[in-house]
Amino acid sequence: MCGIVGYVGKRNSQNILIEGLKKLEYRGYDSAGVAVFTENGLQVKKSKGRLANLESKLGESPLNGSIGIGHTRWATHGKPSDVNSHPHTDNSNKFSVVHNGIIENYVSLKEELIAKGHVFVSETDTEVISHLIASLYEGDIVKAVQQAVKRMSGAFALGVLTEYEPEKLVAVRLSSPLIIGVGEGENFIGSDIPAILDYTRNVYILNDGEMAVLTKDGVELMTLEGNFISRELFYVDWDIMTAEKAGFDHFMMKEIHDQPKAYRDTMGARLDPSGSKVVLDEMNMSEEQIRAIRNVHIIACGTAYHAGLVGKSIIEKLARIPVEVDVASEYRYREPIINKDTLVIVVSQSGETADTLAALREAKRNGAAVLAITNVVGSSVAREADHVIVTWAGPEIAVASTKAYTSQLIAFYLFGLQLAQTLGTQDAGFIANVIAEMKLLPEKVEQILAQADSIKGWAEQVAAHDNLFFIGRGLDYAVALEGSLKLKEISYIHSEAYAAGELKHGTLALIEDDVPVIALGTQEDLLEKTISNIKEVKARGAHVFGVQSEGQTELAKAVDGVFTIPRTLTLLTPALSVIPLQLLSYYASLARGNDVDKPRNLAKSVTVE
Ligand code: F6R
Repeated sequence: MCGIVGYVGKRNSQNILIEGLKKLEYRGYDSAGVAVFTENGLQVKKSKGRLANLESKLGESPLNGSIGIGHTRWATHGKPSDVNSHPHTDNSNKFSVVHNGIIENYVSLKEELIAKGHVFVSETDTEVISHLIASLYEGDIVKAVQQAVKRMSGAFALGVLTEYEPEKLVAVRLSSPLIIGVGEGENFIGSDIPAILDYTRNVYILNDGEMAVLTKDGVELMTLEGNFISRELFYVDWDIMTAEKAGFDHFMMKEIHDQPKAYRDTMGARLDPSGSKVVLDEMNMSEEQIRAIRNVHIIACGTAYHAGLVGKSIIEKLARIPVEVDVASEYRYREPIINKDTLVIVVSQSGETADTLAALREAKRNGAAVLAITNVVGSSVAREADHVIVTWAGPEIAVASTKAYTSQLIAFYLFGLQLAQTLGTQDAGFIANVIAEMKLLPEKVEQILAQADSIKGWAEQVAAHDNLFFIGRGLDYAVALEGSLKLKEISYIHSEAYAAGELKHGTLALIEDDVPVIALGTQEDLLEKTISNIKEVKARGAHVFGVQSEGQTELAKAVDGVFTIPRTLTLLTPALSVIPLQLLSYYASLARGNDVDKPRNLAKSVTVE
């Protein structure tokens, strides 16, 4: 986790670093700091808490200088505190480092350095890097960094400055993201593109095992062994405004409202204009490769995992291929049975989630082909997978994922249909009907959003409780899991999602007077049974809010309040039924006075295991 930025040029670096860090706060925000080369040498300012704390420190005593590095932290080693904040320096204060990732062997390195007389002040793994580089420095910072990196294991992106070579900024990438921005008479580093987009649109995306040496006049790219690399600049053609709030109070609400566009963009040219076929040529999977798939493993974390649960139903229903779904952090350690007939689908909004990336690598080592569903072109997951479907949701800034999740569902529908087309598991009429219904989804999401206010009342009631339950059957259960996670992460209300029929096997004991239960009843074939389960909780005092599809009448009779989503095919309902749940968590979080976009203890991109 964490975000890093760096600047070398002619301007005063402090403000450029702060502006860059603001764009990266989604990666962690428990402390922040900058190091700037000033006329008094390398000076560091850092502060626990939000970036605003650092800004006010810098307001009182600014750091003037045209080369600097900055960091926004999500604590891994050592609690959030001023001293554990980055940048970290060595004992001479001549070397300064910002770091995103984890140094796995930092304890042994630290012991070795302590034995040589180094004194450590923080609990972090990062401080070891600054000391290690200092101990290896013999007049060439690039060589010292290369040697230090050889001694380190783990995943990291680094920005390094030394007072001995004040014109240079050295950057390294190994498994954590890092990009280089190229300007005129100034150059930048950043954990991701928005950090530098106010200043330049020309970037180099570093690959794993690469480093860069930046001066104000140029950028040299090289491998960690020092072999120079020549690479085309990548021009960023998207607008920073797309990453702004567009008039909404929070990114999350903006992103909820982005969903109709995200659906349209993700379907885009992938639906044949004749309306009868899916065209996923860009995925680069031949007919032969599709025919060879015997089983599918879907791997992801958090919300993306929940999209995978819906993906399982889609693929099994449309293509009749067996699918397993795993959370990435479990998958790699359970010795999954993978072979060359297995298609592994990794789902990741950021494309940088460490567990997902590690599972991808494990799958490849075992001979499986890997398909990535990701929102970030050029992300690690996209680059390492054999096949890619990009979800065109646009940048997602709020920590709680909304439009990325629903775009992942759209990607699964497209992929399921592609399989069905190739394998002949569904007839052409059925496929054309699903496509026709998919095209109506954006409009139906707009209809739901037009009723957003009607969820506020529910949310206020829910916000007054400390526990609640989501229930549903079939696809409604998969969506219930996502609704429950969303509510937990931003409202801090404890909630659990249950397969409705499973309640009576234990959890029903928790139902007491007035406990809120959110019941999803959009799966027509299962509705009667879900209603029986609703009656079971109502009989024990629960206050039930229901979500039903237009045209149904029975669920409304069994619950205390109901939200009706437009009618669609049963298989497509998750793309609609999750929207009221996203709104419910948003309003519940607001009602509790929480920071909706930046919930406590969480970060947007989880690049540590
Ligand atoms: C929850 C949320 C997380 C992510 C998870 C995976 O709202 O956003 O659960 O879904 O951390 O992240 P990606 O999709 O970037 O791999």
